[in-house]
Amino acid sequence: MPIVPLRPLLEATKKYSFAQGAFNVNSVAQAKAAIEVHEMFCSAAILQGADLANGFMGGRTDFLNATLEDKKIGAKNIADAVIKYGANSRIPIVLHLDHGKDFDSCKVAIDNGYTSVMIDGSSLSFDKNVELTREVVKYAHNLGVTVEGELGVLAGVEDHVFSEDSTYTNPSKVVEFLKKTGADCLAISYGTMHGASKGKNVKLRKEIAIAARECLLHEHIFGVLVSHGSSTVPKYIVDKINNLGGELTDTHGVPIEELKAVIPCGIGKINVDTDIRLAVTRNLKELFSFNPELRTSASVGQIYQLLEANKSKFDPRIFLVPIMDTMMKGIIPNDDVAKVVDCI
Ligand code: G3H
Ligand code: 13P
Ligand code: NA
Ligand code: ZN
Repeated sequence: MPIVPLRPLLEATKKYSFAQGAFNVNSVAQAKAAIEVHEMFCSAAILQGADLANGFMGGRTDFLNATLEDKKIGAKNIADAVIKYGANSRIPIVLHLDHGKDFDSCKVAIDNGYTSVMIDGSSLSFDKNVELTREVVKYAHNLGVTVEGELGVLAGVEDHVFSEDSTYTNPSKVVEFLKKTGADCLAISYGTMHGASKGKNVKLRKEIAIAARECLLHEHIFGVLVSHGSSTVPKYIVDKINNLGGELTDTHGVPIEELKAVIPCGIGKINVDTDIRLAVTRNLKELFSFNPELRTSASVGQIYQLLEANKSKFDPRIFLVPIMDTMMKGIIPNDDVAKVVDCI
């Protein structure tokens, strides 16, 4: 099946009152694995590449400094791979840009094969956010690409912006925002936050989603609400990482019951990134624990050093820097590298 825009999937979530998971990937190997899992469940797949992830997938090892050119190469790398896997797959696959930071980042993703983009203007004033989102919608919709906007600010690390406090989304502004921009879906701030430290007993403000959904219905405006920061941060994964020498503290996710409860309230897309990062970190730690000889391997030993030097971190991109460079140069991985690739 060719890769598809997000819009028809959003329409289905609305019609049948379900939510679709959306999962972040940071490499071609991860995208392939995510597609295989979705095929097992006969589910459509939304794969997300974040702005910085595109930089990383473009071979930029210090991805925090990724330029537009890096993002362009990364967007093309991942889109080419997903289009190839998609062609042999029987499920619909969406490739979505997560937290696009400006018009050019969205344009680069669209021009290189993404079928959906998020423009995150949530740190701007309402009017500037509308202006930017509208510009992206105009470009994207012309090419059949879906657009997600964001209104309200989530607490925690969002890309490289850290916001101490969250500002909940004002439901009455949701209608105005979607009317003015024409975006297809909207990330709202209603109690979630990015990362693995969301606080104990997270309670989601369901009434924000319900009110937004009611306002949209009343005004006959299409618009699906998106839940960011929705990782559940499974305790068994965190415990495994810490048992293998990790130092993750204050880890709390969104309880799964909270997520299930918001699905009938207009939430149709649920974003997960942290849980995948945690799982990959665990896999890498297990690999070096079960295979101590790999710790001194010429090709992957450095990954072990990085894991040891960053015990409180769980972003696999930090650990995978030594092999990313090798893979980007198109060198066929040797056995040890292949063992690492199996973990991601
Ligand atoms: O929602 C935010 C993403 O998890 C951030 O991913 O580190 O690739 O920007 P990033
Ligand atoms: P988590 O950090 O909870 O996985 O959220 C991911 C996300 O919102 C990606 O856009
Ligand atoms: Na944001
Ligand atoms: Zn997010």
